Amino acid sequence: MTDSGTAAYDHCADLPPLVATAVRAARQAGFTHSCRPEQGQLLRTLAGGVGAGVIGETGTGCGVGLAWLVSGARPDVRIVSVERDPKRAGIAAAVFADEPRVEVLTGDWRELAGSAPFDLLVLDGGGQGKGAEPPLEPADWLRLGGVVVLDDFAPMTTWPPVHEGRPDDARLYWLDHPRLRAAEVKVTPSAASVVATFVG
Ligand SMILES: C[S@@+](CC[C@H](N)C(=O)[O-])C[C@H]1O[C@@H](n2cnc3c(N)ncnc32)[C@H](O)[C@@H]1O
Repeated sequence: MTDSGTAAYDHCADLPPLVATAVRAARQAGFTHSCRPEQGQLLRTLAGGVGAGVIGETGTGCGVGLAWLVSGARPDVRIVSVERDPKRAGIAAAVFADEPRVEVLTGDWRELAGSAPFDLLVLDGGGQGKGAEPPLEPADWLRLGGVVVLDDFAPMTTWPPVHEGRPDDARLYWLDHPRLRAAEVKVTPSAASVVATFVG
């Protein structure tokens, strides 16, 4: 989780209008964990690669990452995001009130399964396998050729990647999954994302 994510926008100019609105909403709510601008730019690019498909996101926050996705998505895309915190979900729903492509659900990340399979799936609040719960199974969630993206990793410098002195099993799950082809992408010198395509 990017603690300084929202603050990273303090000196950003020329944001897409919806991103600027979501950042304002996050600031007003005191929500600090929005995705960084560099990750947002990656999300916008990935969203542009989806045709008339479905994009999903776990962990809406106040909608900053979602706004980047919307900014890159084509007109015929459907985007569904889920947030367990009702206040945040309400704030995000208000940000996207005039955006018919977007639906914000209030609930646990597993409720997003009702909209699967996804062409692009952003795991930012559940499903990553970073904590105690197991990661989701790509075959249950992604369309063939669909892409999953996770952020907030320290760039790896060894194989296997390590976290707190031990092999980083959560990251390895995605990088080494037999049904995914994955790459780690540095979005800043100190932050990396994993982008993986489901190959059946
Ligand atoms: C890193 S923040 C999300 C930031 C957001 N995606 C953005 O780009 O601004 C993680 C969010 O996931 C939510 N979350 C955590 N566990 C969740 C769960 N089990 N189901 C749904 N949302 C969850 C948290 O409430 C928090 O708002």
